[in-house]
Amino acid sequence: MRSRTTAALSSLEMVKVEKHVRTVRSYVRREGRITDAQRRALRELWPQYGVDLADEPFDFAALFGRRAPVMFEIGFGNGEALCELARTHPQNDYVGIEVYRPGIGSLLLKLETLMLRNVRVVGDDAEHVFVEHVPADSLDAVYLFFPDPWPKKRHHKRRLIQPDFVARVARSLRAGGCLHIATDWQDYAEYALAVASQTPKLENTAGQHAYVPRPDERLLTRFERRGQALGHQVWDLVFRRVV
Ligand SMILES: C[S@@+](CC[C@H](N)C(=O)[O-])C[C@H]1O[C@@H](n2cnc3c(N)ncnc32)[C@H](O)[C@@H]1O
Repeated sequence: MRSRTTAALSSLEMVKVEKHVRTVRSYVRREGRITDAQRRALRELWPQYGVDLADEPFDFAALFGRRAPVMFEIGFGNGEALCELARTHPQNDYVGIEVYRPGIGSLLLKLETLMLRNVRVVGDDAEHVFVEHVPADSLDAVYLFFPDPWPKKRHHKRRLIQPDFVARVARSLRAGGCLHIATDWQDYAEYALAVASQTPKLENTAGQHAYVPRPDERLLTRFERRGQALGHQVWDLVFRRVV
């Protein structure tokens, strides 16, 4: 039988989409440069923070050893924003989903340094995770910060924000829970606004066809700072799940 660590590493090395198969992916498989520290983190820290997906839906009380509000971040990159949210909101539990191994390694290193206990990490396709593993009415917030915009028209089908996916996310939220999207790509912001506005059970907290001011709790990440330096504007959308 494979050890838990070996199983964890293999699940990270190959992002599996088991039952639910999406033919077009929202990401390109890229290994990038992985540092020795990130590699060490994937090997040694995964057993502490990583979630090996089983066939059952998540049992958050068992995962965190307590009952607390659960928030998800989809595509956390290097985990900067997720760590800041978890550090400043110890009363909440956080699950980060990412497919980029060096990014997962970076987040694990930060979790170790900050000794955070309220974060778990999933190394799989967010769509698969939401379809197969996240129970309905279970989350208090879902964050999607700067999803890949796939700007070319022929690539729009690769965008993570699609009506079916947003409907899945809406279903996973508790009544009153929020989906927060931030993007620095105007066309994607308008598209996300249209998709979320047409999703049953979601209500725009800013009113119809409007964006919210940048919420203070969203950390200014390296990605956003770089965009700001290039003069990019950022659009924040917060939609609430209604009954
Ligand atoms: C443009 S980056 C933004 C990273 C981070 N949120 C930030 O603001 O710096 C988008 C991230 O989403 C991840 N991603 C894209 N599609 C995904 C999917 N289906 N499941 C999980 N992660 C995904 C990519 O690997 C990438 O790290």
